[in-house]
Amino acid sequence: MKLACVILGAGLGKRMKSSLPKVLHTLCGRPMIRHVLDAAGGLRPETRIVVVGKYHEEISRSIPGPGISFVVQEKPKGTGDALAKAAEALQRFRGTVLVLNGDTPLITPETLKRFLGVFRKNGDALSVLSFTTQHPEGYGRIVRDEAGKPLRIIEEKAATPEQKMITEVNSGVYALDSEIMPLLARIRRNRANGEYYLTDLFGIATREKLGAGVYCICGEDEMIGVNTRHELLRAESVMQTRIVNGLIGKGVTFLDPSSVRISADVSIGAGSVIYPNVCLEGATRIGRQCTVYPNVRIAESTIGNAVTIKDCSVIEHSAIKQNAQVGPFAHLRPGTTVGARARIGNFVEVKKSVIGAGTKASHLSYIGDAVVGRNVNIGAGTITCNYDGTQKHRTDIGDGVFIGSDTQLVAPVEIGKGAYVGAGSTITKDVPPMSLAVSRVPQKNILKWAARKQHKENGRHSKRTLRRRPRTGD
Ligand code: UD1
Ligand code: CA
Repeated sequence: MKLACVILGAGLGKRMKSSLPKVLHTLCGRPMIRHVLDAAGGLRPETRIVVVGKYHEEISRSIPGPGISFVVQEKPKGTGDALAKAAEALQRFRGTVLVLNGDTPLITPETLKRFLGVFRKNGDALSVLSFTTQHPEGYGRIVRDEAGKPLRIIEEKAATPEQKMITEVNSGVYALDSEIMPLLARIRRNRANGEYYLTDLFGIATREKLGAGVYCICGEDEMIGVNTRHELLRAESVMQTRIVNGLIGKGVTFLDPSSVRISADVSIGAGSVIYPNVCLEGATRIGRQCTVYPNVRIAESTIGNAVTIKDCSVIEHSAIKQNAQVGPFAHLRPGTTVGARARIGNFVEVKKSVIGAGTKASHLSYIGDAVVGRNVNIGAGTITCNYDGTQKHRTDIGDGVFIGSDTQLVAPVEIGKGAYVGAGSTITKDVPPMSLAVSRVPQKNILKWAARKQHKENGRHSKRTLRRRPRTGD
């Protein structure tokens, strides 16, 4: 049986009080609607159609991927109207249509598979996925007769006080036979707010005696609908726990799982240890046997095996190769690669540079727009002066170079292989391989200068004390 998925995402999301379209608010680093699309993708449908509204450009831009198409609902006239718009695009499709709300990001492919299984087994024309909750506020309630047969879905606004007490609610996930799509035209505008409620389709299908069922087959935690920032926070915490538990299952140690923030696209290898207050963002990959100490943020970066990231370091859009060490208090800015076994230490900032294998920059340096070879020693306080006020320039440092402390390398400049730069130098010209460059003023020692100074001072001091001697009168 063929499957098409429709994701409704054209609502304005007013309750979020935000200029960002609701379905683009992120949950563990991924826009909400992408979580829904990914869950739907797990079913390998023929097509995934997203209904978008006012913000169609922003939404289509942030959801790339094959097999996803967009349908525009110009005005948010309700979920019934949104599905009717998708139905136009599905006119020639014959099979099962699975409808999902774009603001239900915790749904899993496993639950969707089970739901479709029940829908098919019962031969329904329309099935609704429900769940029970002690906080049904805001959800459509499932109204059943005394025998437990579902009759209709009643929205919160239209519900009587008794109906509001119902704890079984509509999840916003529906499976329907493409044959009944024309029934969408029978949905009447709701008098209270002028919207077309998709939930009314259930009552219509029941009245038409077209098998319609409601199935409560999953827990509340999967079905949180996000309408407000409070609900977003709740959903975020459920998903964060899910992500961390998944990684623990794969052999990762978290010393304080409640304090970390791990995005949904992060991977961490077995044997790695993550200390408290660590933020791993975007598609960050961490290898096996790594240690990430407290207060570290790593964004969109690739970390090899057995790497140590010490406390309070920030790593953005960078790569670190195996056995390297970074931090404490290091900042790797975008476009940096740190080679195997290299060390980037205390208060070192590296930007758009390649640091060769085995190279060390252990203290207080800025390395920007540089290509540094293997086994180089960058002394404390070394600065690449890469910016002349208008343009950025490159610094090249060959293999095995030794740069003495407190050196300024004024780019563009090249230090040849195996060369030495004396501490305190300002290097403005290329240094040939295997040579020594020193640019500081030669030292002059003035012998006994301090002793003479002291002597002079002592002399002045004794004169003063003489003058101040109290008069005795004789
Ligand atoms: C909806 C259901 C409710 C259910 C709840 C589950 C209706 C009328 N109510 O309520 O029974 O319990 O979801 O979370 O369907 N959308 C459009 N176009 C529109 C309006 C909405 O595409 O014109 C999209 C929204 O972007 C959203 C989804 O449909 O992703 C649901 O809309 P929302 O306004 O959040 O409905 P709820 O009030 O949560
Ligand atoms: Ca909703």
